[in-house]
Amino acid sequence: MAGKITLVEGDITKLAVDAIVNAANPSLLGGGGVDGAIHRAAGPGLLAECKTLGGCPTGEARITAGHRLPARCVIHTVGPVWRGGGRGEPGLLASCYRRCFRLAREHGIRTVAFPAISTGVYGFPKDQAAAIAIREIQRALAENVGIIEVLLVCFNPETKKAYEAALAGTGE
Ligand code: APR
Repeated sequence: MAGKITLVEGDITKLAVDAIVNAANPSLLGGGGVDGAIHRAAGPGLLAECKTLGGCPTGEARITAGHRLPARCVIHTVGPVWRGGGRGEPGLLASCYRRCFRLAREHGIRTVAFPAISTGVYGFPKDQAAAIAIREIQRALAENVGIIEVLLVCFNPETKKAYEAALAGTGE
């Protein structure tokens, strides 16, 4: 049976799931937004582990332990900065989701929570990002029976509305 998609409101760092996804930057050395919140909650051990990874290109993902987080793992992915949509941004955002699911499959992850990657500091339009997220997640759930639940964390009302519209568009 394919896994389900659940919209949740609140702080991703509080979720006791197998993995939370971090919207990171290529250095993987922390930042603001959800990246900052995850590093603050995980403690210094996360940064120490990230320093061993040597960064992450846009569109790719890396995995670490969860350290002091309730989540077992953190999957760090680097979304594209929005530059108007003509610089490959949609494809790179889709790649972030695909790479996160590839790592989830390789690491036996069954529950995973995503923030709205690239829609904060990186400026990706929420409605377009939500449509990409839902499309890639539904594809992954169809292909990867290991995942039983994907939680989409809505940190603001606009994000929740964008996901609801994207889900309505697919009849979920
Ligand atoms: N829990 C869940 N979602 C959160 C949290 C949190 N604690 N904090 C922020 N968010 C949401 C934002 O509201 C937005 O919807 O995460 C989404 C992604 O926003 P950003 O964190 O700004 O990430 P992004 O747009 O991908 O920009 C990445 O910002 O923090 C830096 O180091 C990071 O350079 C990178 C850039």
